[in-house]
Amino acid sequence: MIDESQMKIDTTPSFDVHQTETSRLDQVDFSNLDFGRVFSDHMFVMDYEDNLWQRGSVEPYGPFAMSPASMVFHYGQAIFEGMKAYRSSDGTVSLFRPGKNIERFNISARRMCMPEVPEDIFMESLAALVKLDEAWVPDGEEASLYIRPFMIATDSFVGVRASDKYTFSIFTCPVDAYYKGSVKVKVERHFTRATPGGTGYAKAAGNYAGSLYPSQLARKEGYDQLIWTDAQTHEHIEESGTMNAMFVIDGKLVSPQTSDTILNGVTRDSVITLANDLGIEVEIRKITVNELESGLKSGSVTEAFGVGTAATIKSIELIGIDGVNYTLSKAEEDKENTVAFKLSNELDGIRRGRIEDRHGWNIPV
Ligand SMILES: Cc1ncc(COP(=O)(O)O)c(C=O)c1O
Repeated sequence: MIDESQMKIDTTPSFDVHQTETSRLDQVDFSNLDFGRVFSDHMFVMDYEDNLWQRGSVEPYGPFAMSPASMVFHYGQAIFEGMKAYRSSDGTVSLFRPGKNIERFNISARRMCMPEVPEDIFMESLAALVKLDEAWVPDGEEASLYIRPFMIATDSFVGVRASDKYTFSIFTCPVDAYYKGSVKVKVERHFTRATPGGTGYAKAAGNYAGSLYPSQLARKEGYDQLIWTDAQTHEHIEESGTMNAMFVIDGKLVSPQTSDTILNGVTRDSVITLANDLGIEVEIRKITVNELESGLKSGSVTEAFGVGTAATIKSIELIGIDGVNYTLSKAEEDKENTVAFKLSNELDGIRRGRIEDRHGWNIPV
């Protein structure tokens, strides 16, 4: 496990840097960023072959040339991470808990039979890339630089087995808020995101492909996202879209235990730590749909929110359970007194340098 507070960034790169001669920076309207559609000037690329990682390089952002027989296109060996760099109030740029994402990337790699990326090379390339494109890190209230490391199987081969060749790459996107306002969610009691023994705890591309159809059906019904339930009984709350689920029940912060069907979120871990710091009682336990429903009826469930890198802490204003919609109107009316608001304020304050980084989470580039 990486101790982030001990993490040092090596300034001598063990990879080549080919800088672009034509920056696209002045073409970007930073006051109107479409999430995930604007890409910074550079990307990192490193290939794996002959059982070894080859020398990587930072290159101008651009397309890959790939064989149609590349195994990723057919058998889906692909993993990714999502993390962010923030500009703090004094202008410095820091990565938020990068060690956690590196660790989880390699957990995903093992599950998908892919080679692990050495932690030092991962960290160095990440820092070098963000440093080089530092001017792309926006400074708006909810803005940040979203960082997307990923790995794909690149062997040209038709046949189901693990690939012999891979490409690891990182690109970045200046982004603003992921969702504007609160979200409406539906508790999914038929389709399944992850099964015990499956790949739910990995950030494997296929997990997301499989979630699209049920999410699309929910959107047609007027919801923004799903809350997934367990595959066997559909009685237990798991997580929500690309966020871990949290509830305030009788004043306590309650969240399901992570498992092989729930992604171990970095934001979830951070929020739980901060709740403990703030003296908010935390319960990590199973939550049944019945408990949620009766709590929404009785008023003991006062808040629901999703936590994740892209959206940070996103309040849920409405929950649909078996065709009945329950609204969390009190939390909506009195936002500044919610647990979600306090936690969000604390987390954001640390990331932006307004509150002391007492856990050593910010790693300056
Ligand atoms: C399925 C899923 N759950 C939870 C999360 C939240 O994890 P994190 O806080 O590390 O972004 C994500 C996003 O990465 C996700 O894709």
